[in-house]
Amino acid sequence: MSSIGVRSYAKINWTLDVLSRREDGYHELRTILQTVSLYDRLRLEETDGAIEAVSSDSRVPEGEANLAHKAATALRRVAGVRAGARIEIDKRIPVAAGLGGGSSNAAATLIGLSRLWRVELGYGEMIEIARRLGSDVPFFLLGGTALGVGRGEEVYPLEEARSDHLLLVNCGISVSTAAAYARLSRLTRPNDVRIMPFTLLAARDIRELPLAARNDLQEVVAAAHPEIAEVIKRLESLGARHALMSGSGATVVGVFDNLETSEKARAEMRAMGFWSERVRAIGRREYGETIFD
Ligand code: C5P
Repeated sequence: MSSIGVRSYAKINWTLDVLSRREDGYHELRTILQTVSLYDRLRLEETDGAIEAVSSDSRVPEGEANLAHKAATALRRVAGVRAGARIEIDKRIPVAAGLGGGSSNAAATLIGLSRLWRVELGYGEMIEIARRLGSDVPFFLLGGTALGVGRGEEVYPLEEARSDHLLLVNCGISVSTAAAYARLSRLTRPNDVRIMPFTLLAARDIRELPLAARNDLQEVVAAAHPEIAEVIKRLESLGARHALMSGSGATVVGVFDNLETSEKARAEMRAMGFWSERVRAIGRREYGETIFD
């Protein structure tokens, strides 16, 4: 039986505009997503048994509750595959942190198992499986810089945003995505979709994006977790040109000019007991070329 290694990259959101709450309970978004150089390692092994998913991190659910397990099950059903798979997830992306770790694991499983099981589904069919798994999963079939609309699941490639000195900081709070959006619902205006979202304006000058980044969920999530605002302030005082929360939080992204200041800030954040990693934006091409380890 053969096996392969797959990199499952994290994402950040350069922008996240929440336009309205929809009839189906989801929120209508315009968001610019970006893959970054932090990744989980997945080892996928073909078996003749059931689908199994195990992880190095006890906070990641194992078995059927795991999103990678769900991805494998869906792919096997749609493609009519008989074989099984064992999925081992070596977790380096913080869990429930706004970095898309679970969604990325699901997409990496779809890509990896397609190769391992020699499945040839079209892009449309893969996207269809991905969107049913979660709003961020289709983005990870694409990677790079992309616009997400609808629930975030309808993705369009954009010109690549470059950013080589990003610092991710997580102060250990897990935020459920559903809880973050629930906090926002009283603030959103239901029929406000006519306004040109900031995201689309920002996308017109992609080079400016890292410094113009913003997130509609930040205010409500930071109000519930004051540590987030403190990390943002601290990063700015340590030389970040800009800092904001990623996705539904609680990870903060600091945008730095150079290696020295970002490295110094990382040391400072770690000294404060926070998880912190330096990363850079990963473009679509590099994403595609490095996904198989
Ligand atoms: O799609 P996903 O399962 O990742 O979403 C998790 C939860 O986040 C949803 O159940 C919903 O409560 C919330 N959400 C939302 N609007 C979105 C995406 C997610 O309200 N566009």
